[in-house]
This record gives sequence, structure tokens and C-alpha cells, in this order.
Amino acid sequence: YMNGARGVLPDLPMSFAGMEELAESRMDPRILGYVAGGAGNEHTQRVNVAAFERLGIMPRMLVGAAQRSLGIDLLGDRLPSPLFFAPVGVLGAVADDGDLATAAASAELGIPMVASTLSSAPLEQVRAAAGETPGFFQLYPPADRELAENLVHRAEAAGYSGIVITLDTWVNGWRPRDLSAAYLPMLSGQCLANYLTDDRFRKLLADQGSPDPAAAVMLWASLFGNPTMTWEDLEWFRSMTSLPIILKGICSPEDTRRALDGGMDGIYCSNHGGRQANGGIPAIDCLPGVVEAADGAPVLFDSGVRSGVDALRALALGATAVGIGRPYVYGLAAGGQAGITHVMRSLLAEADLTMAVNGYPDLASLRGSLHRL
Ligand code: FNR
Repeated sequence: YMNGARGVLPDLPMSFAGMEELAESRMDPRILGYVAGGAGNEHTQRVNVAAFERLGIMPRMLVGAAQRSLGIDLLGDRLPSPLFFAPVGVLGAVADDGDLATAAASAELGIPMVASTLSSAPLEQVRAAAGETPGFFQLYPPADRELAENLVHRAEAAGYSGIVITLDTWVNGWRPRDLSAAYLPMLSGQCLANYLTDDRFRKLLADQGSPDPAAAVMLWASLFGNPTMTWEDLEWFRSMTSLPIILKGICSPEDTRRALDGGMDGIYCSNHGGRQANGGIPAIDCLPGVVEAADGAPVLFDSGVRSGVDALRALALGATAVGIGRPYVYGLAAGGQAGITHVMRSLLAEADLTMAVNGYPDLASLRGSLHRL
């Protein structure tokens, strides 16, 4: 506000809608379709966002909220904010060095990044660029077990604080935008750095005996998803690493209990931003059941968060930490690392001001403050 007195306007948009519009004007149409799009007619994606608007925060007056904290404890780390960067697998297709720019923003802000398997820089480099800020490695478990184990062991050696295993993408969803463009960034050879630097992947490639770069893409496509995974595999997950393991894509209380009974350390409630299956349930509507079933275990959440107020709504429902997906990707497309930090700082500042106005000095006090509209 004060900048206005000096005639200075912000150089980047202050709302999600504004940032999305700017990013759209700067993105290759096929990448834009990949990032912005979702499954089917994108109904689940839309209701993910719309469902937040049915949740209102009760204002409380005269509680002395001049000093506020957005800090959280997550798996042994004290973090200054409850946000994290959700894993996004095509950051390198959105901007050169997009994964490293996000990691640098993570270092700058102290906001953890969940680094995707599908990155354009090897996971070791991404980890190093995030500096002192803790971060997680997201695993898409490949069909080849040795490759999966290699990736997890590399993440351990590189200094990640935990492994996020994504369960909802063992097969790609029905995405009309990408199908119409006959386009997936990975099939153009992009964002496969973790595979191309892996000894096991290179051995499998060498065994095929073809020097053609297209062979690497075809090998990747044949290994990417593991269609035979079941609950029996939790034992295998557990045997791979002593790091905390969080399962991503869990929406039901039954699956939550099963994961925690099977030795997992946390739950990541998400429907992949509506990218995988249409005809679903808004992820935020699944959160209360997951939180209750988790019975105190950490619950990460994403899908549909577009503002600082949305983040507070998820925290008020009991999420331990809230993942930001498309908003930071648009920040990256619009303004590189500065665009990412602008988006994350804006979300945090909006959350903080909303807590101030509504009289909630910390996140614990927010629990139970929501009213369904
Ligand atoms: C994703 N997401 C994702 N998830 C994951 O576990 N590994 C990945 O590599 C990716 N890749 C990816 C690419 C793009 C372009 C998007 C938009 C999303 C899903 C992501 O982690 C998160 O669940 C959603 O982005 C949340 O939905 P919103 O908030 O973006 O609508």
C-alpha cells in the first residue's frame, strides 16, 4: 500500500487470476495446456477450487493477535511457514532451470520443496540448490524395482528429509488438452534427468543396444508406472529407506489408516489437482476424514489452493502443511525465481493479514474456526 504514495506499482500481479493471465501470455501453448489442464472436462479441477469458497472463517475480536506465527513442526523440522512446493514434474519445460529456480526460491524463503521424479536437473543438484531448507524427494515408483531403490538411495545420500511416494499416477489420466495436442513433455525427452543420470537406467538402456535418444524415451515410457503395486508393497517401501515416507494421493479414511498401520510416517491428501481422474470429490472435502483417521500423524494437503485464505482453510481443517501447485508454476513462467518468491510471499502475507484481522495468533487457534456456507 505504501508504495502507492511514491507512485510505485508492483511489477507482478497480486492475485492468482492476474498471475495466471500473465503466465498464459508467456507460455508455449502446449506447455500451458499441460500445466493448466486436467482430466476429462476438468470438473474435478474446478470443484477443487470452488469448494474452498464454501468454507468461511469466523472472525474473533480483541484477542491480541498483534504477534502472529505461521510456524509448524513437520517430521522433526521446525518450519517458518505452513506452505510447501508441491511436486511438479515439468518445471524444466516451463522455464530453463525451472527446478533449480524453484529450489533456489525454497532456499531463499525457507519453504520446503517436494522435488519431483520428473525433473530437468538431477535430484542431487536440486537438493544442493535448496541449501539449508529441508526438502523431500517425490518418487513415482517405476516398474523396475532396482531403479526405484536407486532413486530412493540417491535421495537419501543427497540429504532429503523424506520420501513422498505418489500413488495416483501409475497410469496417466485422460487429459483432452494433451491428447488433442498429442503432447507429453516427457515424450519429447524433457524432464528425464533423474533417469538419464541413474546407473540402473543406463544399464537397461545399454542392454537394449540402441544409441538412439528416442530409445531412452521409449525405455522411460515402458518403466514409468508400476501397474502391479498394491498394499503389499508398503513393506518394500519401508525396507528401502529409514527416511520418513509419506504417501501422496490418499483421500479416504480407510486408505489413511492402512498406510499408517503399514508403517508409513505421513499422509498427503491430494487428488493431483484434478489432473488424474475426473468425476471426483473436491480434495478439501476429503481432508477432514483423512485428518481424523490420521489420528495425529502428519497430513500434507494440496489441490485447489489459490490464496492465503485457502491455505488457512486447509490448516483450520487440520492439515499440517499445505502444498502449492499451479500458482507457483505460473509465477515461474511469468517471472522466474522472482515470480515464484512473489507468489509464495503474497500467499503468506495474505494468510498472515487474514489471521490478524480475524484474531487468530497461530495455526492451532484456527482449528474449528470454519463455518460451512
Ligand atoms: C503436478 N503434480 C505432480 N505430482 C507429483 O506427485 N509428481 C509430479 O511430478 C507432478 N507433476 C505435476 C505437473 C504439473 C504441471 C502439475 C500442475 C501438477 C501434482 C501436484 O503435486 C499437485 O498435486 C497439484 O498441482 C495440486 O493441484 P493445484 O493446486 O495445482 O490445482
